[in-house]
Amino acid sequence: MTQFLTITSGKGGTGKTTTAINVGTALSQFGRDVIVVDGNLHNPNISLHLGNPMLPITLRDVSKGTNSIRQAAYQHPSGLKVIPGNIIDEIEKQDFKRVEHSFLDLMGATELVLIDTSSQPHEEIMNVAGKTLVVTTPDLTSVTDTLRTIKKTEEKGIKVLGVVVNKIKGKNELSVSEIKAMLDRPIIGEVPYDEKVEESHASKHPVTYLHPEAESTQSFKRIATNLIGNANQ
Ligand SMILES: Nc1ncnc2c1ncn2[C@@H]1O[C@H](COP(=O)(O)OP(=O)(O)O)[C@@H](O)[C@H]1O
Ligand SMILES: [Mg+2]
Repeated sequence: MTQFLTITSGKGGTGKTTTAINVGTALSQFGRDVIVVDGNLHNPNISLHLGNPMLPITLRDVSKGTNSIRQAAYQHPSGLKVIPGNIIDEIEKQDFKRVEHSFLDLMGATELVLIDTSSQPHEEIMNVAGKTLVVTTPDLTSVTDTLRTIKKTEEKGIKVLGVVVNKIKGKNELSVSEIKAMLDRPIIGEVPYDEKVEESHASKHPVTYLHPEAESTQSFKRIATNLIGNANQ
């Protein structure tokens, strides 16, 4: 059975897209069948992180109803299967709904669909998955936003599988145990601030692929392992 999981956050820049592509890459390295989809339809992010290949079929074709979303998937050199978004003016507003509905057509196409989202994801996309992983940074503003987001998300009936604390520097910030106490949700991952993430971003590859030995890579692999245990819940 295909599992769907969104990656969300309270505010932008916490590392949702970074988490989606790196956890996705780690899972595919573990031999799992996973597709990372850009659910950030108004302001696509995945291509900013993985490059912008010329693809024969894109979400624009899906939005017009001429192709299935399964045909819009491609394989990044890292081995990760990806469905990138399109820039906003390429998809007309009335066709967005068709794209959002089409996410469900991935049912049966893979083991896990990881949907990267914007900070204000559409309800439709959240409902497709029904569960989410929330990414926060360890500063008070981000954690406070995260708390609000978790409450709002759960009120809408979406399960919060857990929290990823990203860009941990280890000083002048909240500790993971303080964050756990504030949010009262499972911490599924702790990722250090790592310049290799920025460097990999600039060269359009997941750090998990480019720097297998990096500390951040080890963290993303641990999150992937945790997810394998949690995804069926
Ligand atoms: N663990 C990390 N260490 C260093 N830089 C990071 C880390 N995680 C993300 N970044 C950087 O932070 C910026 C925002 O990350 P991104 O994943 O695009 O956030 P979001 O999708 O939540 O807006 C990017 O430049 C990314 O390379
Ligand atoms: Mg993003």
